[in-house]
Amino acid sequence: MRIIENISEMQRLADTWRAGRERIAFVPTMGFFHEGHLDLMRTARKLGTKAVISIFVNPTQFAPTEDFESYPRDLQRDIDLSTAVGTDLAFVPRVDEMYPEGFQTYVNVTQVTENLCGMSRPVFFRGVATVVSKLFHAVKPHIAVFGQKDFQQLVSIRRMVKDMNMDIDIVGHPIVREQDGLAMSSRNTYLKPGERPAALRLNRSLKEAQELVDLGERNATVILKAVNDRLTTGGGATVDYARLCDPDTIEDVEVISGPTLLALAVWVGKTRLIDNRVLLLPA
Ligand code: PAF
Repeated sequence: MRIIENISEMQRLADTWRAGRERIAFVPTMGFFHEGHLDLMRTARKLGTKAVISIFVNPTQFAPTEDFESYPRDLQRDIDLSTAVGTDLAFVPRVDEMYPEGFQTYVNVTQVTENLCGMSRPVFFRGVATVVSKLFHAVKPHIAVFGQKDFQQLVSIRRMVKDMNMDIDIVGHPIVREQDGLAMSSRNTYLKPGERPAALRLNRSLKEAQELVDLGERNATVILKAVNDRLTTGGGATVDYARLCDPDTIEDVEVISGPTLLALAVWVGKTRLIDNRVLLLPA
C-alpha cells in the first residue's frame, strides 16, 4: 500500500487516477483501527476501483479539555491492517501540513450540529466539517464511506456535501459491534475491565427502547425514562444525553410517528461512549 504525506502529491495522484477513469472510494479515519474501520475499508474496496484511507488525528475537533494528546495511535499497526484488507493508499498528513501557520478558514454546518454532541462538544462539528472538507480536496474521492455510529457526524457531512455542491456520494455504513454488543470504537481501549458491564447497557437500552415501541409505546418521555433507568441502574455510568430525534434534522421528537433516532452519549468512568439506533414502527 502506498503512503502519501503531502497534500499536493495526493492531489496529483488523484488527478491521474481520475484521468484514467478510476473511481476513488475514500474512508477518512483517525486511525487506531478496529474491525469497524476495516469494514468501512472493505466497503470502499467494493465501491471503488481505488480504495483510499486517511489517518489523521484532527486537533480542531477536540476541545482543550478533551483527549487529543492521549488519543490512541499506532501507525504501523494501522498500515498493516489496512494493507491486509486491500486498501490502495493511505493519506497520512502531519498536523502542520493540514493546518499550516496562518490557517483561518473553517466550515460550519449549523442546524443539524446543534443538538446531541453539538451541545456537549462545542468545537467538534466545526472541526470535523473543516477537516473532512480539506481531506476531500486532497483525495478528490467519488465516494466517501462513514460509520453510522457517529450518526450526527454522518448527517452533518451529508448536509455539507449537499450545501457546498460537492460531487461526492456519501455512504453510511451500519454500526459494527463486539460479540457482546458494544459498538466498536477506538476509545473502547480506555475502558477498564470492571467498566464493561456499564458500557454494555448502551446497546441493551437501545434494544429495550425498540421493544417498547414494538409494544405500542410512542411517548418520548416514557421511552427516555426507561432508557435512562437502564443506563444508570447498577451505577458506573453517567448519561451525557439520551434523546429521541428526527434522523434527518436531528431535532428532538416528542411523539414517535416514524423512524426515530435514539442517540446516546454516556460516560463510563473516564470514557465517553456514543451509540444509537433508529427505532422503527412495527410494520
Ligand atoms: O469519525 C472520525 O474518525 C473523524 O471524526 C473523522 C471523520 C475522520 C474526521 O476527523
